[in-house]
Amino acid sequence: KGWISENLYMYQGFWHQTKRIISVETVMAVQDTFKARPTDIYLATLPKAGTTWLKALVFAIVNRNRYTNNSFSTHPLIISNPHNCLPFIETEIFRNTPTYLNDPHSPRLFATHIPYPSLPRSILDSGCRLVYLCRNPKDVLVSMFHFTNKLRDKSRGPMRLEEAFELFSKGAMPTGPYWDHVKSYHKVSLEHPTKILFITYDDMKTDIVNNVKRLSGFLGYPFTEAEEANGAVNEIVRLCSFENLSKVNKHGNLREGIPNDVFFREGTVGGWNNHLTSEMSHLLDQITKEKFHGGVRVSDVVL
Ligand code: A3P
Repeated sequence: KGWISENLYMYQGFWHQTKRIISVETVMAVQDTFKARPTDIYLATLPKAGTTWLKALVFAIVNRNRYTNNSFSTHPLIISNPHNCLPFIETEIFRNTPTYLNDPHSPRLFATHIPYPSLPRSILDSGCRLVYLCRNPKDVLVSMFHFTNKLRDKSRGPMRLEEAFELFSKGAMPTGPYWDHVKSYHKVSLEHPTKILFITYDDMKTDIVNNVKRLSGFLGYPFTEAEEANGAVNEIVRLCSFENLSKVNKHGNLREGIPNDVFFREGTVGGWNNHLTSEMSHLLDQITKEKFHGGVRVSDVVL
């Protein structure tokens, strides 16, 4: 019951959908067949934590010299959805697309919603770099609620906010519990800071310029002084902004028929205030404080 598909299944301590592209079946197939390379770059997120934005930013940063001669209007992020430019490991394994999986160029860029403990061994062992993007739980919940209602089979009727809240606070969301997913990556980011970068959507909204510089430095693509002086950072910020991406993704669908525009709703921090009751908000703060106690800094994610 709940979110987009009818049932969620617990696998290795986390909830997964079934019979969908990103599902328990694809996580198991990724574990069985996916081979990481040390030069790969991975972006890990919970659904609705800002994956689309992070995909666009990392694609734009890493490929910035490849498209310098192109005008802004023919950049891949203008003519296509960020999900087509930088795929999920899960979707590539599901579609069995050897072109991308076997691409000899480096770095291969992949996103994933898989919780850290379920990542394939080859990613854990390969020494590749991984960025984890965290977003405050209340905006993730509200975003997931709207996303579900846009994609859900209409015959089931809309999901109610109370139902979404109850499932989320019990930990039942795809690749949740929210707190366990965040904690699993946060812990290893402290242990291996050169390998795993932990950033937040909320902080990116406050200071995107410094976060773009931080991301590019961590990934091994730092901006030169000349690039900074030429406005290269600001150009990427503008290219990947909510305003720009939501405008160019108004029409069309992804390969699976999912409309491009479902990934762009408000793109704000604190929008949950217009949806959650103060009781719901208070309860989520309580759960977050308890779950993150002594680990993730609550002030980073609780609003
Ligand atoms: P809201 O529903 O709160 O607006 P994901 O990409 O992980 O599916 O997350 C989707 C959320 O990120 C949505 O949040 C969406 O609006 C927001 N988003 C998408 N692109 C964005 C961008 N370029 N800048 C900021 N937020 C963005």
